[in-house]
Amino acid sequence: MTNANSEKSQNSVTLTDNQSGQQWELPVIDGTVGPRVIDIRKLYGETGMFTYDPGFTSTASCDSEITYIDGDKGILMHRGYRIEDLAEHCDFMDVCHLLLNGDLPDSKQKTKFEHDITYHTMLHEQMIYFFRGFRRDSHPMAVMVGVVGALSAFYHDSTDITDPHQRMVASHRMIAKMPTIAAMAYKYSVGQPFVYPRNDLSYAENFLNMTFSVPAEEYKISPTLARAMDRIFILHADHEQNASTSTVRLAGSSGANPFACIASGIASLWGPAHGGANEAVLRMLQEIGSKDRIPEFIERAKDKNDPFRLMGFGHRVYKNYDPRAKVMQKSCHEVLDELGIRKQEPLLDLAMELERIALEDDFFVEKKLFPNVDFYSGIILKAMGFPTSMFTALFAVARTVGWIAQWNEMVEDPNHRISRPRQLYQGNTGRELPESFKS
Ligand code: ACO
Repeated sequence: MTNANSEKSQNSVTLTDNQSGQQWELPVIDGTVGPRVIDIRKLYGETGMFTYDPGFTSTASCDSEITYIDGDKGILMHRGYRIEDLAEHCDFMDVCHLLLNGDLPDSKQKTKFEHDITYHTMLHEQMIYFFRGFRRDSHPMAVMVGVVGALSAFYHDSTDITDPHQRMVASHRMIAKMPTIAAMAYKYSVGQPFVYPRNDLSYAENFLNMTFSVPAEEYKISPTLARAMDRIFILHADHEQNASTSTVRLAGSSGANPFACIASGIASLWGPAHGGANEAVLRMLQEIGSKDRIPEFIERAKDKNDPFRLMGFGHRVYKNYDPRAKVMQKSCHEVLDELGIRKQEPLLDLAMELERIALEDDFFVEKKLFPNVDFYSGIILKAMGFPTSMFTALFAVARTVGWIAQWNEMVEDPNHRISRPRQLYQGNTGRELPESFKS
């Protein structure tokens, strides 16, 4: 129905209604890189038609300067910097500053930013009672959704989204408090006392300390584990308009406060098709158990009548190797080697063999299914001592900066409006109410 109109202008396409012959010209907008977009904002007003794109496979929901993905080439950039460079040469605070403020910090800015974040690491003491309302066996993500949503009941001085200062304080609070909340969710589930944050430690060290230390004895933070944790945070920090980020933007478009918006993002992240996949990968590897059973599971993944999918494989955007998975695999080797547990941890070898077999299989080659970020992260997290149920909570800690950066970008956009998709209605029309209901 549409065809690019090369005669009139390079920057428009012509839409032709084949029934009436009527034509409309639609502007085309260029980004700095990546596919051009057809601007359909006036489409309904001019044609009386909507576009139909369930799953948003061809829809740009916003313009953004934060993150760029080239899924065919396997490229991920934040503010123009490649993820591989950021993971190698920066720490998570640098990346948070970059995502939130647009640039990597100089040393003065870094000191100030670290101070701004650490200043907010503690939770209102009253929130301890909030935790105690949960069952001990609650999933940490259930606790995270509830507690993060409840922040808006505790921090009234940073919920006015029209005030840039309040937005900034809320952003710092979110980044600072998420590790505290996640660690508390873990401590609560294992029946250990909560450990307060320590502002003399780095972001990753502090998180490990709050999670694994106990008051009864000294806890030595392994620099290897701290570095691996930091890298995991960097690799998960943002990923443009994924399901949870779009959820945050959609919730925020109505003017909801940032704590409520991030809670909605956490809920969306929880699903196994999104952030919940890291948990599912580990369960899958444990179920496969040994290399000789891999072909059986590969066959199941290919069987249309079997709902089983190879978890940690495939991505809506990447039709090539997810660059984060490459860094994660390298990190996985480092962690297992440095902890000296390579031999006791057969899952890494199993995962690598599964990857090798899948990548040689026609089904996965044709459908361009490659390992995604979740494929190796679970193995590192398990080696570090995290229970499987915490994996997605860690993802939420890391992604918070992306959510809040995207939320800020939306709120600051003078053109932003409430997000309100339309639909293709396929239901009944004009039914008469049965007589029995009319009396
Ligand atoms: N195993 C087997 N087949 C798969 C897989 C997989 N992991 N992923 C996709 N396919 C197949 C589908 O069956 C489909 O085949 P068809 O065209 O014959 O029907 C085709 O590949 C396309 O898959 P879709 O589900 O249409 O792709 P979509 O872009 O909607 O889904 C998703 C992407 C959800 C990530 C999917 O690949 C998947 O379920 N992967 C496993 C879960 C996972 O690892 N999620 C983490 C994503 S990364 C993240 O959120 C951090």
